[in-house]
Amino acid sequence: MAEIVAGAAMSHVPAIGVAIDQGNTGDAYWRPLFAGFERSRQWIREVDPDVVIVVYNDHATAFSLELIPTFALGCAAEYQPADEGWGRRPVPMVKGQPELAWHMAQSVILDEFDLTIVNKLEVDHGLTVPLSLMFGQPDAWPCPVIPLCVNVVQYPPPTGNRCLNLGRAIGRAVRSFDRDLRVVIFGTGGMSHQLQSKRAGLINSEFDNRFLDLIAHDPRAAAAIPHVEYLREAGSEGIELVMWLVMRGALDENVREVHRHYHVPASNTAVGHIILENETT
Ligand code: DHB
Ligand code: FE
Repeated sequence: MAEIVAGAAMSHVPAIGVAIDQGNTGDAYWRPLFAGFERSRQWIREVDPDVVIVVYNDHATAFSLELIPTFALGCAAEYQPADEGWGRRPVPMVKGQPELAWHMAQSVILDEFDLTIVNKLEVDHGLTVPLSLMFGQPDAWPCPVIPLCVNVVQYPPPTGNRCLNLGRAIGRAVRSFDRDLRVVIFGTGGMSHQLQSKRAGLINSEFDNRFLDLIAHDPRAAAAIPHVEYLREAGSEGIELVMWLVMRGALDENVREVHRHYHVPASNTAVGHIILENETT
Protein backbone atom coordinates (compact mmCIF):
# COMPACT_ATOMS: atom_id res chain seq x y z
CA MET A 1 0.00 0.00 0.00
CA ALA A 2 1.06 3.61 -0.44
CA GLU A 3 2.13 5.59 2.61
CA ILE A 4 2.92 9.16 3.55
CA VAL A 5 6.38 9.00 5.06
CA ALA A 6 6.99 12.67 5.76
CA GLY A 7 5.87 16.24 5.31
CA ALA A 8 7.73 19.47 4.78
CA ALA A 9 6.63 23.09 4.80
CA MET A 10 8.39 25.96 3.15
CA SER A 11 7.85 29.46 1.81
CA HIS A 12 7.45 30.00 -1.93
CA VAL A 13 8.64 33.60 -2.44
CA PRO A 14 9.14 34.21 -6.20
CA ALA A 15 12.45 36.05 -5.63
CA ILE A 16 13.89 32.79 -4.24
CA GLY A 17 13.24 31.19 -7.63
CA VAL A 18 14.91 34.10 -9.42
CA ALA A 19 17.98 33.82 -7.13
CA ILE A 20 18.27 30.11 -7.96
CA ASP A 21 17.67 30.59 -11.69
CA GLN A 22 20.24 33.41 -11.93
CA GLY A 23 22.89 31.67 -9.82
CA ASN A 24 22.78 34.19 -6.95
CA THR A 25 22.28 31.80 -4.05
CA GLY A 26 25.81 32.50 -2.75
CA ASP A 27 25.25 36.28 -2.51
CA ALA A 28 25.46 37.78 0.97
CA TYR A 29 21.72 38.50 0.94
CA TRP A 30 20.70 34.95 -0.01
CA ARG A 31 23.40 32.71 1.49
CA PRO A 32 21.87 32.36 5.00
CA LEU A 33 18.48 31.49 3.52
CA PHE A 34 19.79 28.77 1.22
CA ALA A 35 22.16 27.42 3.88
CA GLY A 36 19.07 26.34 5.81
CA PHE A 37 17.94 24.16 2.89
CA GLU A 38 21.21 22.24 2.38
CA ARG A 39 20.19 19.69 4.99
CA SER A 40 16.73 19.48 3.39
CA ARG A 41 18.13 18.63 -0.05
CA GLN A 42 20.29 15.93 1.50
CA TRP A 43 17.27 14.64 3.44
CA ILE A 44 15.01 14.40 0.40
CA ARG A 45 17.73 12.67 -1.62
CA GLU A 46 17.87 10.04 1.12
CA VAL A 47 14.08 9.71 1.44
CA ASP A 48 13.85 9.48 -2.37
CA PRO A 49 10.03 9.71 -2.53
CA ASP A 50 8.04 8.10 -5.34
CA VAL A 51 5.57 11.00 -5.39
CA VAL A 52 5.36 14.46 -3.85
CA ILE A 53 1.99 16.11 -3.16
CA VAL A 54 2.44 19.88 -3.20
CA VAL A 55 -0.20 21.91 -1.37
CA TYR A 56 0.16 25.44 -2.74
CA ASN A 57 -1.80 28.43 -3.88
CA ASP A 58 -2.18 29.73 -7.37
CA HIS A 59 -1.53 33.49 -7.55
CA ALA A 60 -4.08 34.46 -10.25
CA THR A 61 -2.05 32.47 -12.80
CA ALA A 62 -4.17 29.42 -13.66
CA PHE A 63 -7.28 30.74 -11.92
CA SER A 64 -8.61 34.28 -11.75
CA LEU A 65 -11.49 36.03 -10.04
CA GLU A 66 -13.68 34.36 -12.68
CA LEU A 67 -13.15 30.93 -11.14
CA ILE A 68 -12.13 30.39 -7.51
CA PRO A 69 -12.02 26.76 -6.38
CA THR A 70 -11.41 26.43 -2.65
CA PHE A 71 -9.51 23.15 -3.17
CA ALA A 72 -8.40 21.96 -6.63
CA LEU A 73 -6.56 18.70 -7.23
CA GLY A 74 -4.32 18.23 -10.28
CA CYS A 75 -5.06 14.91 -12.00
CA ALA A 76 -3.07 15.60 -15.18
CA ALA A 77 -0.07 13.74 -16.59
CA GLU A 78 2.00 16.93 -16.71
CA TYR A 79 1.96 20.58 -15.70
CA GLN A 80 3.65 23.39 -17.58
CA PRO A 81 5.48 25.95 -15.39
CA ALA A 82 3.68 29.25 -15.96
CA ASP A 83 4.90 32.49 -17.45
CA GLU A 84 4.07 34.96 -14.67
CA GLY A 85 5.15 38.02 -16.63
CA TRP A 86 8.92 37.64 -16.91
CA GLY A 87 8.97 34.48 -19.00
CA ARG A 88 8.75 30.92 -17.79
CA ARG A 89 11.19 29.89 -15.08
CA PRO A 90 13.87 27.66 -16.63
CA VAL A 91 12.72 24.63 -14.68
CA PRO A 92 11.69 21.21 -15.97
CA MET A 93 8.15 20.28 -16.90
CA VAL A 94 6.33 18.93 -13.83
CA LYS A 95 5.21 15.34 -14.35
CA GLY A 96 2.00 14.26 -12.63
CA GLN A 97 0.81 10.98 -11.12
CA PRO A 98 -2.73 10.63 -12.53
CA GLU A 99 -3.43 7.17 -11.05
CA LEU A 100 -2.81 8.28 -7.46
CA ALA A 101 -4.39 11.68 -8.08
CA TRP A 102 -7.64 10.14 -9.38
CA HIS A 103 -7.65 7.72 -6.48
CA MET A 104 -7.23 10.69 -4.11
CA ALA A 105 -10.09 12.52 -5.84
CA GLN A 106 -12.38 9.53 -5.45
CA SER A 107 -11.38 8.81 -1.87
CA VAL A 108 -11.45 12.42 -0.65
CA ILE A 109 -14.70 13.38 -2.44
CA LEU A 110 -16.49 10.26 -1.18
CA ASP A 111 -15.04 11.22 2.22
CA GLU A 112 -17.17 14.41 1.82
CA PHE A 113 -14.49 16.93 0.79
CA ASP A 114 -15.69 18.40 -2.50
CA LEU A 115 -12.47 18.94 -4.44
CA THR A 116 -12.38 20.52 -7.90
CA ILE A 117 -10.70 18.16 -10.36
CA VAL A 118 -8.22 19.89 -12.67
CA ASN A 119 -6.95 18.21 -15.83
CA LYS A 120 -5.04 21.19 -17.24
CA LEU A 121 -3.07 23.48 -14.97
CA GLU A 122 -0.13 25.82 -15.38
CA VAL A 123 1.83 25.90 -12.14
CA ASP A 124 3.25 29.16 -10.80
CA HIS A 125 5.94 30.08 -8.25
CA GLY A 126 3.73 28.70 -5.48
CA LEU A 127 4.61 25.20 -6.71
CA THR A 128 7.90 25.58 -8.60
CA VAL A 129 9.84 27.51 -5.93
CA PRO A 130 9.36 24.79 -3.27
CA LEU A 131 10.49 22.18 -5.82
CA SER A 132 13.63 24.24 -6.52
CA LEU A 133 14.36 24.73 -2.81
CA MET A 134 14.15 21.00 -2.16
CA PHE A 135 15.50 19.50 -5.39
CA GLY A 136 17.86 22.20 -6.71
CA GLN A 137 18.27 22.54 -10.47
CA PRO A 138 17.97 19.05 -11.99
CA ASP A 139 17.36 18.42 -15.71
CA ALA A 140 14.16 16.62 -14.70
CA TRP A 141 12.34 16.65 -11.34
CA PRO A 142 13.24 13.41 -9.55
CA CYS A 143 9.65 12.25 -9.02
CA PRO A 144 6.07 12.92 -10.12
CA VAL A 145 4.12 15.69 -8.39
CA ILE A 146 0.44 15.99 -7.48
CA PRO A 147 -0.61 19.65 -7.11
CA LEU A 148 -3.32 20.58 -4.65
CA CYS A 149 -4.31 24.25 -4.93
CA VAL A 150 -5.93 26.04 -2.01
CA ASN A 151 -7.66 29.40 -2.37
CA VAL A 152 -5.94 31.82 -0.01
CA VAL A 153 -6.18 34.79 -2.38
CA GLN A 154 -9.87 35.71 -2.41
CA TYR A 155 -11.86 35.89 0.83
CA PRO A 156 -13.13 33.53 2.20
CA PRO A 157 -10.28 31.01 2.31
CA PRO A 158 -10.90 27.69 4.07
CA THR A 159 -10.40 27.57 7.82
CA GLY A 160 -7.26 26.08 9.28
CA ASN A 161 -9.38 23.34 10.81
CA ARG A 162 -10.88 22.46 7.41
CA CYS A 163 -7.36 22.27 6.01
CA LEU A 164 -6.20 19.97 8.82
CA ASN A 165 -9.19 17.70 8.22
CA LEU A 166 -8.59 17.69 4.46
CA GLY A 167 -5.02 16.60 5.19
CA ARG A 168 -6.38 13.72 7.27
CA ALA A 169 -8.63 12.70 4.35
CA ILE A 170 -5.62 12.85 2.03
CA GLY A 171 -3.73 10.60 4.44
CA ARG A 172 -6.59 8.07 4.32
CA ALA A 173 -6.69 8.32 0.52
CA VAL A 174 -2.98 7.64 0.11
CA ARG A 175 -3.00 4.77 2.59
CA SER A 176 -5.82 3.10 0.65
CA PHE A 177 -3.99 3.21 -2.70
CA ASP A 178 -3.04 -0.28 -3.72
CA ARG A 179 0.54 0.34 -4.80
CA ASP A 180 3.73 0.52 -2.78
CA LEU A 181 4.47 4.22 -3.14
CA ARG A 182 6.36 6.33 -0.63
CA VAL A 183 4.78 9.77 -0.62
CA VAL A 184 6.03 13.06 0.81
CA ILE A 185 3.68 16.02 1.17
CA PHE A 186 4.74 19.69 1.01
CA GLY A 187 2.74 22.55 2.51
CA THR A 188 3.93 25.81 1.01
CA GLY A 189 3.61 29.56 1.56
CA GLY A 190 3.94 31.93 4.49
CA MET A 191 5.26 32.82 6.88
CA SER A 192 4.29 36.31 8.06
CA HIS A 193 4.12 38.75 5.17
CA GLN A 194 1.93 41.48 3.79
CA LEU A 195 2.49 42.74 0.27
CA GLN A 196 0.14 45.71 0.14
CA SER A 197 -1.36 48.67 1.90
CA LYS A 198 -0.23 50.41 5.09
CA ARG A 199 1.26 47.37 6.79
CA ALA A 200 3.22 46.20 3.71
CA GLY A 201 6.49 44.65 4.87
CA LEU A 202 5.03 43.35 8.15
CA ILE A 203 7.04 40.52 9.74
CA ASN A 204 6.16 38.90 13.08
CA SER A 205 8.91 36.50 14.14
CA GLU A 206 7.27 35.74 17.46
CA PHE A 207 4.07 34.57 15.76
CA ASP A 208 6.04 32.61 13.14
CA ASN A 209 8.15 30.74 15.68
CA ARG A 210 5.09 29.90 17.76
CA PHE A 211 3.42 28.60 14.59
CA LEU A 212 6.47 26.41 13.84
CA ASP A 213 6.18 24.91 17.34
CA LEU A 214 2.44 24.32 16.97
CA ILE A 215 2.56 22.82 13.49
CA ALA A 216 5.06 20.25 14.72
CA HIS A 217 3.71 19.41 18.15
CA ASP A 218 0.17 20.78 18.60
CA PRO A 219 -1.55 20.85 15.20
CA ARG A 220 -5.02 21.10 16.75
CA ALA A 221 -4.01 24.39 18.39
CA ALA A 222 -2.59 25.61 15.07
CA ALA A 223 -5.85 24.61 13.36
CA ALA A 224 -7.84 26.67 15.86
CA ILE A 225 -6.14 29.95 14.85
CA PRO A 226 -8.90 32.08 13.26
CA HIS A 227 -8.43 34.04 10.04
CA VAL A 228 -8.52 37.35 11.88
CA GLU A 229 -5.50 36.29 13.98
CA TYR A 230 -3.48 35.44 10.86
CA LEU A 231 -4.41 38.82 9.40
CA ARG A 232 -3.59 40.74 12.55
CA GLU A 233 -0.43 38.86 13.54
CA ALA A 234 1.00 37.53 10.25
CA GLY A 235 -0.31 40.07 7.73
CA SER A 236 -2.71 39.61 4.85
CA GLU A 237 -0.57 37.03 3.02
CA GLY A 238 0.24 35.21 6.26
CA ILE A 239 -3.05 33.40 5.63
CA GLU A 240 -1.03 31.16 3.27
CA LEU A 241 -0.03 29.29 6.43
CA VAL A 242 -3.36 27.41 6.45
CA MET A 243 -1.83 25.30 3.65
CA TRP A 244 0.76 23.97 6.09
CA LEU A 245 -2.15 22.45 8.01
CA VAL A 246 -3.15 20.29 5.03
CA MET A 247 0.36 18.86 5.06
CA ARG A 248 0.24 18.38 8.83
CA GLY A 249 -3.14 16.67 8.76
CA ALA A 250 -1.82 14.05 6.34
CA LEU A 251 0.81 13.01 8.91
CA ASP A 252 0.39 11.04 12.11
CA GLU A 253 -0.65 12.75 15.34
CA ASN A 254 2.91 12.40 16.64
CA VAL A 255 5.79 13.21 14.35
CA ARG A 256 9.55 13.48 14.51
CA GLU A 257 10.88 16.98 13.80
CA VAL A 258 13.87 16.44 11.52
CA HIS A 259 14.80 19.97 10.60
CA ARG A 260 13.71 23.57 11.09
CA HIS A 261 14.89 26.82 9.54
CA TYR A 262 13.68 30.39 9.94
CA HIS A 263 15.12 33.37 8.13
CA VAL A 264 14.15 37.02 7.61
CA PRO A 265 13.99 38.52 5.06
CA ALA A 266 13.42 37.07 1.63
CA SER A 267 11.85 39.84 -0.40
CA ASN A 268 8.97 40.97 1.84
CA THR A 269 8.63 37.67 3.61
CA ALA A 270 9.70 35.73 6.64
CA VAL A 271 10.88 32.34 5.37
CA GLY A 272 9.97 29.35 7.47
CA HIS A 273 10.75 25.73 6.84
CA ILE A 274 10.14 22.52 8.77
CA ILE A 275 10.52 18.81 8.02
CA LEU A 276 8.41 16.26 9.92
CA GLU A 277 8.62 12.49 9.64
CA ASN A 278 5.95 10.03 10.66
CA GLU A 279 7.21 8.14 13.69
CA THR A 280 5.90 4.89 12.29
CA THR A 281 8.17 5.07 9.23
C1 DHB B 1 6.14 37.54 -2.22
C2 DHB B 1 5.70 36.51 -1.42
C3 DHB B 1 4.71 35.64 -1.86
O1 DHB B 1 4.20 34.61 -1.12
C4 DHB B 1 4.20 35.78 -3.12
O2 DHB B 1 3.31 34.87 -3.53
C5 DHB B 1 4.61 36.84 -3.94
C6 DHB B 1 5.59 37.72 -3.48
C7 DHB B 1 7.21 38.48 -1.77
O3 DHB B 1 7.53 38.50 -0.58
O4 DHB B 1 7.77 39.18 -2.61
FE1 FE C 1 2.39 33.53 -2.15
